[in-house]
Amino acid sequence: MERTKLNSSGTEVLIIGGAGFIGSHIADSLVDNANVTVYDNLSTGRSENLHPDVSLLNDTIRNPERLTGAVEQADLVFHLAAQVSVQRSIEGPIFSHETNLDPILTILEAARGSDTRVVFASSAAIYGEPEYTPIDEDHPKEPNSPYGLEKLTADQYCRLYHDLYDVEAVALRYFNVYGPRQQAGDYSGVISIFREQARAGDPITVEGDGAQTRDFVHVDDVVQANLLAATAEDAPGNGINVGTGTEITIRELAEAVRQATNSDSEIVHVEPREGDIKESVADISLARKELGYEPKYEIYDGIEAYLGE
Ligand code: UD1
Repeated sequence: MERTKLNSSGTEVLIIGGAGFIGSHIADSLVDNANVTVYDNLSTGRSENLHPDVSLLNDTIRNPERLTGAVEQADLVFHLAAQVSVQRSIEGPIFSHETNLDPILTILEAARGSDTRVVFASSAAIYGEPEYTPIDEDHPKEPNSPYGLEKLTADQYCRLYHDLYDVEAVALRYFNVYGPRQQAGDYSGVISIFREQARAGDPITVEGDGAQTRDFVHVDDVVQANLLAATAEDAPGNGINVGTGTEITIRELAEAVRQATNSDSEIVHVEPREGDIKESVADISLARKELGYEPKYEIYDGIEAYLGE
C-alpha cells in the first residue's frame, strides 16, 4: 500500500488540538510540506500558537458531525485534543471522559474504510504506579486516575480498530513533555511551573521530598516521534512509549531550573501530592525499533535550550 506522503503539498493533514502545546509544534513542522488544518476550539489552545499558513476549524471535538467531516477530508490525522490534567480528571470525571474518550471513537469510525493514518496522543498515565522500571509497553496497566483510564481505553481502541478494521492507528504514550508554549498554571507540567517561579524570584515548590523521578521529554523529540509514526510501515496497531529512557528527581530538576534561569529563588518543600507516582522512566526500545526514534535532548541540554537565554 502506498504510504502516507509527507513531502507533497497535496497531502491533507488534520491536527486535532493543533493550537495547543504539542499540536502547534507538529503543525509548524509540517506547514512547508503539506496542507495543514487545525481543529481546535481555542479553549486551552491559543490562536498565537497558530502558524499563519494553517487553516483553523474552530469547533469543539464534542461535535461528532463536524469532526467526522474533518477526518474524512484528511490523509493523515494527529489527535492531541484533550483534557490534559490528571488532577482535573479526578475532580470532574464526566467532563474528562466526554473530552478524552468519546472523540477518539468518532475519529476512528471516520477513518474506517480509508487509508488515513491516525496518530493518537496516549500517555504514560495508562501504566499507573510502576511495578518495575524502565516501563516497557507490556508493563501492567492499572491507571489510578480517570485521565489514565480514558487514555488507556482510547489507546486500546486504536489497536482494536487496527486489528478489526485495518485502520492505520498508532498510539504514542508520552512521558513528561516540556518545552516552549507549555503554559504554567495549577494544572500544568512541573517544568513550566518551576520556570515561572524561578523567573519571578518566588520559591520553587517541590512537592514532598523531591526524590520522585520522571522521564522528561522535549517537545521537539515528541514532534519527531509523531512524524515518524505518521510514516513508519509497521507502526499501526502499536502503542509506543515516547520518552528519553533516563530519569531525574524533582529535587534535581528544581536545582537545574534555578541554575538555567540564573535565579535566586529558594527551593522549598511543600506537602506531597496524594497518589503521586514515585518513579517513572520509559523503556524506549520499541520506539527505536518501530520508528527509528532517537531523542535529541537529554534533560540538562533540554532545560538549557528551553530556559537558558
Ligand atoms: C504528567 C502529565 C500527564 C501525563 C503524565 C505521564 C502534566 C500536567 N501532567 O503527570 O498529563 O499523563 O505526566 O507520565 O504534564 N511537582 C512539584 N511541584 C510543583 C508541581 C509538580 O514538585 O509545583 C511534582 C509532582 O508532585 C510530581 C512531579 O512534579 O511528582 C511531576 O508532576 P506533573 O508535572 O504534574 O506531572 P505528572 O503528575 O507526572
